[in-house]
Amino acid sequence: MQVVEHISEVRAVVEPIRRAGKRVGFVPTMGALHRGHLDLMQTARRECDFVVTSIFVNPTQFAPHEDLAKYPRPKERDLELCQSVGVDLIFYPTVDEMYPRGAVTSVYVDGLSTVLEGAIRPTHFRGVTTVVAKLFGIVSPDRAYFGQKDYQQQLIIRTMVRDLDMAVDIRTCPTTRDTDGMALSSRNAYLSPSERTAGLCLSQALKRGEQMAADGVAPDVIADAMQDQMEATPGVALDYAVVVDPWTLTDLTTPQPQMVALVAAHIGATRLIDNAIWGAPLY
Ligand code: PAJ
Repeated sequence: MQVVEHISEVRAVVEPIRRAGKRVGFVPTMGALHRGHLDLMQTARRECDFVVTSIFVNPTQFAPHEDLAKYPRPKERDLELCQSVGVDLIFYPTVDEMYPRGAVTSVYVDGLSTVLEGAIRPTHFRGVTTVVAKLFGIVSPDRAYFGQKDYQQQLIIRTMVRDLDMAVDIRTCPTTRDTDGMALSSRNAYLSPSERTAGLCLSQALKRGEQMAADGVAPDVIADAMQDQMEATPGVALDYAVVVDPWTLTDLTTPQPQMVALVAAHIGATRLIDNAIWGAPLY
């Protein structure tokens, strides 16, 4: 496994591989890797000839009051984990490498970036799409792997790829969970034991909602029930609990064959999100 810091080095490694007709898979991350990230890498390993991972805590997707400074950066452990699942190349750039002085261009997916996570974090998705567009330009992958855990993020990235005619096949992989149902997240490390228990209300609300959807309950009624359930949990400050159309993210009032439930809440100082696709798989 090679670890490089410079854009020119990534290009020098990947270009001959692509020229040889090999399929390049790419898994962008911010490090602090857990089983969810490793599952993406293993899927890429199965489906591609050469696997590239980037580890970059992208400052442009954090608002000034967010956790950029304290975001965990366990470099050695992350590199070992990548090695253990057979990643071929790690791109581990500095902030200056990615954002040299004078950089003024950004990529913004309108509409979808303004709702849900975007309503609460107005600058977040511009940072995500800008860095992912840059990484796609640097790595030139055939396929890129994202987690359903960040449903809105993968939808926005798919929209960017479609609208800007990027030659990348986006793959969305299922959310990896702990045995109790909690979605794995680098931010779970911030939770105290009692907060960890309170955080279970996200996946539990989704489970109950899924049962209600299977029973034919209207999506707006399910959303209200999920909100009530989460708000009744001590230590939880609800941001949203909604049932939406999978492509437009608009609230639903009548059931449809595919629906997405999205939940977000603060547990103490930590913000958690989770979601579920109801009906036939989307991806
Ligand atoms: P990060 O939070 O490190 O996540 C990297 C990838 O892992 C994302 O596609 C995310 O959806 C996926 N992931 C996280 N937790 C997961 C879980 N429990 N199961 C399955 N997949 C999971 O998302 C980002 O980084 C950044 O926004 C990034 C795309 C790298 C741009 O900076």
